[in-house]
Amino acid sequence: MSNFVNGFSKKNKLEKIDWIIKTHFHNNKKAKHLLFSYLNNDESIQNLHDEFIENTISNFYLPFAVAPNFLINGKYYTIPMAIEESSVVAAVSKTAKFWANLGGFKTKILGVEKVGQIHFFYNGSFKKLKSFFKKITKNIIEDLKPITSNMEKRGGGISSLELADMSKKINSYYQIFVKFNTVDSMGANFINTCLEKITEIFKFYVGEKKFLDNGSEKIDFVMSILSNYTPNCIAKASVNCKVEDLKENDELNDENFVENFINAVKISKVDTFRAVTHNKGIMNGIDSVVIATGNDFRSVEAGVHAYASRSGNYSGLSDAYIKDDYFYFELTIPVSIGTVGGLTKLHPLVDWAHNLLGNPNAAELMQIIVATGLAQNFAAIKSLVTSGIQKGHMKMHLLNVLNQLGASPKQKEEAIEYFKNNLVSYKNVREFLNKK
Ligand code: MEV
Repeated sequence: MSNFVNGFSKKNKLEKIDWIIKTHFHNNKKAKHLLFSYLNNDESIQNLHDEFIENTISNFYLPFAVAPNFLINGKYYTIPMAIEESSVVAAVSKTAKFWANLGGFKTKILGVEKVGQIHFFYNGSFKKLKSFFKKITKNIIEDLKPITSNMEKRGGGISSLELADMSKKINSYYQIFVKFNTVDSMGANFINTCLEKITEIFKFYVGEKKFLDNGSEKIDFVMSILSNYTPNCIAKASVNCKVEDLKENDELNDENFVENFINAVKISKVDTFRAVTHNKGIMNGIDSVVIATGNDFRSVEAGVHAYASRSGNYSGLSDAYIKDDYFYFELTIPVSIGTVGGLTKLHPLVDWAHNLLGNPNAAELMQIIVATGLAQNFAAIKSLVTSGIQKGHMKMHLLNVLNQLGASPKQKEEAIEYFKNNLVSYKNVREFLNKK
């Protein structure tokens, strides 16, 4: 049977499931049952999820956890995290407590600027284009008011509109480069609506003011879209303490901890293989809060990695150093997120997560997210330069293996005790269970 289908999107959910089970699973009842077992019994919740995207056939769960004891700028937060990876939440919670005892995280916003671009080609002179653009900029801003006035009332809007000459990179290529403040919304819809309207207005004035020389000149608009690179929408998180406090810390129990920690960060600055893994650890923290708060983790990921490459070399995003006998550990990254709009009020668990955080505004949430990234990075490096990463990982991994092998609660308890002093591997766990 061919797996090609016409009109799939027109089928209702049941019809879609039936088609899939028939064509891809040989009518297997178990495969069908599995999809149904992940549907929500509350019809209103299920309908909501069905409508987030297209062709919905079930729900896809991620564990939803919390990391307590995050002291940020003197206030305690319990941070919601949605992530499938073992150890991340345990490690970050431990780190939160560790730094709470040393004064906690200090965070601040360094900028909230978002960016949108209109890409176009024009085969005439840049000078002429520039003077035309200058003349109509005011009109554009004025004609945009129906779209921007609400955002302006909330303290945001368009902060600048510039013509960028890109013709050295591609012949005849120009941009209208627009900077926005979208206050508490991530702003993708607002920005894209503005950009498409600006293009429309621009085209209108090109015609009305007879900008193009008949015959020889032409202007082609290619696309109008926000940029997920927001190097000026950034927050910084840092922790610091006396070097002695770390050296004498029982938990660390390692004379060379500070030196090794700083060297680990230094390595991430010069070696791409290490930098990517270093930053992946940071993103374990960032993404899980971004997802739990209903934000777009793909956009944050894309922006953060571009930021990590801003010098021309991809490098580790955090900094660690000693100054005046104090150890400093810092992270500054772009996080373009929102606390209104999108899924924030629509998804019941996302709404719950915002309530848990005390309904922060976007600036506060940015800082919470960056602090979580820094904590995650601290936890990873601390493990790497002391006990190694596998010890903590394997403890959590053991539970996954036990679940995979269908261990009973009693077997799990015995296995956890046994594997405190024995090597966790799939084979060893299976043998242990077989002996029981
Ligand atoms: C694992 O998800 C993340 C780490 O590899 C990060 C790191 O190496 O810094 C532990």
